[in-house]
Amino acid sequence: MLTICETVESVREQVREWRQRNQNVVFVPTMGNLHEGHLRLVDEARQHGDRVVVSIFVNPSQFAEGEDFTRYPRTRDRDIELLTERVADMVFIPEISQMYTVPNLTVVEVNDLSGQLCGAFRPGHFGGVATVVCKLFNIVQPDTAIFGEKDYQQLILIKTMVSDLMMSVKIIGVPTVRSDDGLALSSRNQYLTDNQRKSAHKLYEVLKETRDLLKDTNNIEYAQLEQQQYNSLKQHGFKPDYFAIRDSETLQPPAADNRQQQLVILVAAWLGQTRLIDNLKV
Ligand code: PAF
Repeated sequence: MLTICETVESVREQVREWRQRNQNVVFVPTMGNLHEGHLRLVDEARQHGDRVVVSIFVNPSQFAEGEDFTRYPRTRDRDIELLTERVADMVFIPEISQMYTVPNLTVVEVNDLSGQLCGAFRPGHFGGVATVVCKLFNIVQPDTAIFGEKDYQQLILIKTMVSDLMMSVKIIGVPTVRSDDGLALSSRNQYLTDNQRKSAHKLYEVLKETRDLLKDTNNIEYAQLEQQQYNSLKQHGFKPDYFAIRDSETLQPPAADNRQQQLVILVAAWLGQTRLIDNLKV
């Protein structure tokens, strides 16, 4: 049965009871408006422990001024239905006042990582993410937490935070779930007009093309390839923020001799008023 908790205290009480019974806890943090991508995280969570906790919280501190905080889709009843079907044990749906009781003086900043790629275009975003995830970890105290690879930079940021701050939670990344045409599932896809939705899959096409070029070509000029694919996205009607080829663990640019490195291609691009992100490992 799905327990719905709205207060920090009620989450702590329930988790304490599970722990007394030697049950471990797997946690899936979300901002709600659940789709198949989130539900895949819940399925993965089931594989890693006895109890699955999902949080639904549209975290104001990770939205910059002028971003979509107020229009971000909130679908509480449907989310609860889906979590009941998918057999989560608890959903934590706090009000903002539960998560930010007094003006907070403490923030968690993962230096360097939070200022690059998406961080360069969304000032304060990753500080907000790291801070709220740290708070949620302290509330839920999970043994394991599950994140989607769709938000690849976020996943690396959280892994770094957990390692740097010696948090005892294991982080697991789950591959991106895509529509039939290849577009990565995201709550923000519903902002797209019909025409934009029809061309949105080209983002993934360009990622795949880049991956193939990286595999098939020796002595690649990364900066040149990035620029070429950035331009190609523009020709397809996107307004790219960045198109980058990076080391898949550190998110640093590839070393000159990178035969041992696994690379990841990351992109953020606007289609009209909608900012899409995606990535692909090489
Ligand atoms: O990926 C998300 O939905 C959010 O960034 C997260 C991890 C739930 C923190 O608010």
